[in-house]
Amino acid sequence: MDSLLSRVLVTGGAGFIGSNFVHFTVRQKPGVKCIVLDKLTYAGNPDNLAGLTDDQCQLVVGDICDARLVDDLVADVDAVVHFAAESHNDNSIADPAPFVRTNVEGTFTLLEACRRHGVRFHHISTDEVYGDLALDDPTRFTEETPYKPSSPYSSTKASSDMLVRAWHRTYGVQATISNCSNNYGPRQHIEKFIPRQITNILCGIRPKLYGDGRNVRDWIHVDDHNAAVWTILEHGRIGETYLIGADGEQGNIDVLRAILQCMGKEADDFDWVRDRPGHDRRYAIDSTKLRTELAWHPEHTDFARGLRQTIDWYRQNEAWWRPLKEAVEAKYAKAGQ
Ligand code: NAD
Ligand code: TYD
Repeated sequence: MDSLLSRVLVTGGAGFIGSNFVHFTVRQKPGVKCIVLDKLTYAGNPDNLAGLTDDQCQLVVGDICDARLVDDLVADVDAVVHFAAESHNDNSIADPAPFVRTNVEGTFTLLEACRRHGVRFHHISTDEVYGDLALDDPTRFTEETPYKPSSPYSSTKASSDMLVRAWHRTYGVQATISNCSNNYGPRQHIEKFIPRQITNILCGIRPKLYGDGRNVRDWIHVDDHNAAVWTILEHGRIGETYLIGADGEQGNIDVLRAILQCMGKEADDFDWVRDRPGHDRRYAIDSTKLRTELAWHPEHTDFARGLRQTIDWYRQNEAWWRPLKEAVEAKYAKAGQ
């Protein structure tokens, strides 16, 4: 369907979810041009945007904390979809400084530009702002759950959510927020759980499971996340928060065993490693508000199928991840993980 928006600034569009958002937009929203602002940190890769025409996507290499650059770009778009962040918990434990700068100061810089130019702002956040649930807790996170972040990563994301709410209430910025659960799919950095284990197996390295392996994550395919983002961008109520989840709760050990089985390995072909400090036990999302108010529903709900497709993507795109592998594993080895 044609969108009323024609130029969208996509921050972090060279990363995992942001680049999938750009490709989703090209497929589903003809006539929309994505202007990607990305610093190309270790997590950003311009190849993620390969094959797109100048009418579909323009990459601007720069920092969301650069107020002048951000102001120029925001002045010339209909909306901002803000994915850019430092996104990995383990990195935030080793060095939190870039998380505070990019996630908090970067969001502030974008909000100020949107305030000046009256531009629509959609903020991408995480369910991790709510802290964690016990394994036997019958409840799930809703939009009413109090914030209780555990890690430097989730606390900086929580801070950025608070800024968005305040800029909406105080200055009337036309903002919405979405808090999504764990994404999987193509082009996810190999520091993250699923791609790390897939590429370990492809390299002949034994997968690594933290702690007792019973931690639960609520998995959603990245295309379902991005479909929800477009729904909120076009139909969401300004000032509102929407939780995005696909009822995909799974224990880490079950996900790992599914990967092992799919790749022809034995169920115990992995190593137990040191647990993450402060490791959140369980995340679980109740996405009733998004489903009832905006009629969104996930389409990629067959996790085994999505996992097989993701494994195939890493098999077929070794040139994309191979140059990163040695450094990622060296960093984990240093941390005993
Ligand atoms: P990612 O690490 O793959 O990508 C982040 C992108 O942001 C990279 O391209 C990087 O170069 C860019 N970036 C980092 N600092 C920047 C800066 N200062 N200026 C400009 N660009 C910068 O992350 P992801 O997994 O795609 O996550 C995207 C967003 O979604 C984040 O806001 C994250 O908090 C949120 N989120 C992620 C998940 C998940 O499962 N991965 C779940 C819920 C929410
Ligand atoms: P991760 O992909 O880092 O996402 P998040 O911390 O945002 O949930 O990790 C997902 C889960 O997998 C988390 O419980 C930590 C665990 N994990 C491992 O057991 N082994 C690993 O090698 C990694 C990277 C994560």
